[in-house]
Amino acid sequence: MKRVLVTGGTGYIGSHTVVELLHAGFEVAIVDNLSNSNQDVLQGIAEITGQTVPFEQVDCTDKEAMDAVFGKYPDIVAVIHFAASKAVGESVANPLLYYRNNIGSLITLLELMREHKVPNIVFSSSCTVYGQPDANHLPVDETAPIQPALSPYGNTKQINEEIIRDTAHSDANLHAILLRYFNPIGAHPSAKIGELPNGVPQNLVPFITQTAAGIRKELSVFGNDYNTPDGSCIRDYINVVDLAKAHVVAVNRMLEKKASEQVEVFNLGTGRGLSVLELLNTFIRVTGVDVPYKIVGRREGDIEQVWANPQRANTVLGWKATATVEDTLLSAWHWQEHLAHKK
Ligand code: NAD
Ligand code: WQD
Repeated sequence: MKRVLVTGGTGYIGSHTVVELLHAGFEVAIVDNLSNSNQDVLQGIAEITGQTVPFEQVDCTDKEAMDAVFGKYPDIVAVIHFAASKAVGESVANPLLYYRNNIGSLITLLELMREHKVPNIVFSSSCTVYGQPDANHLPVDETAPIQPALSPYGNTKQINEEIIRDTAHSDANLHAILLRYFNPIGAHPSAKIGELPNGVPQNLVPFITQTAAGIRKELSVFGNDYNTPDGSCIRDYINVVDLAKAHVVAVNRMLEKKASEQVEVFNLGTGRGLSVLELLNTFIRVTGVDVPYKIVGRREGDIEQVWANPQRANTVLGWKATATVEDTLLSAWHWQEHLAHKK
């Protein structure tokens, strides 16, 4: 059997990817320390797929425990590494937690992959490595310059990409695909898994759905004085199931030895830039649910506009985002309604 080890597999993107891996016929094992998710997600995965996934509650920085995981599953052929801390603001307040967690977990993983002869890794990177691309680099492709990180979180992504490149340079057996996600949104159409932000959501879509559900009083739109058509920031919002499917394609690409280089990089976006106000108005239109909002000042650290040129992922990786933003926002709303019924 071919087993994929999914670190961070009870998390938002990881859980959706586990579903797609199972649909594709892979065996999976999940490692997660439940620092930003909970085990209920396993039930959701089982209800969708009819399969119970082996789950190891382990911290990826714990080398002894992770070594035991690799020993327990000798059929691991690839690792997808989602496990990380990802809150930009928190990383500014507590950088050492981010450097220890995000860089420590990758180093531990790469050491154990070598010791257990697991040659393939897919790494969760982020468009945040591009910072604010200049006008002649929008839409942004993989040749756009990597800019100085705007947060310790973003810096951990840049450093981790370099660690993977340097390790691959020293070990011809290691193959890696770096996937630079733009803005993942939405939930599985079954509404059995979705985004479960801890506390007050930092990201736009969960804040919108919680406001629509009456959990939050109103949405603050962080600025409408940017140099964009309606003044609000522009992003490339990608459906989380589309994103999950890209990971299956990436794993198969490495297993079938189709990769043209030891380390490949792909931007995972739709190629469509949407402003905050456009996204908000689309949500209201498709759900019929009002979302009270107010325009407030800019959020520190926000970049004005970024969206992907997904050409390379479409033609070389052989993957394309297909979900409409309307269906994606509806899936987010249905997930929010499911959460309300669960209470
Ligand atoms: P998430 O927080 O929902 O999932 C991450 C999971 O990793 C959580 O379940 C958490 O409990 C687990 N985890 C964290 N540290 C761990 C450790 N040391 N050992 C074991 N488990 C650990 O986040 P997500 O949105 O699913 O993001 C997954 C990955 O994608 C992250 O690496 C993130 O940086 C990256 N990413 C996310 C976005 C986004 O907007 N969501 C965008 C770009 C990149
Ligand atoms: C999107 C837009 C906000 C909330 C972040 C991380 C990035 C990646 C994805 C991990 C922005 C506006 C938001 C709100 C708002 N995460 N907004 N009111 O900032 O593009 O990216 O998540 O890798 O690293 O930086 O996503 O959803 O926070 O914001 O107006 O309550 O929505 O200003 O323009 P962002 P976001």
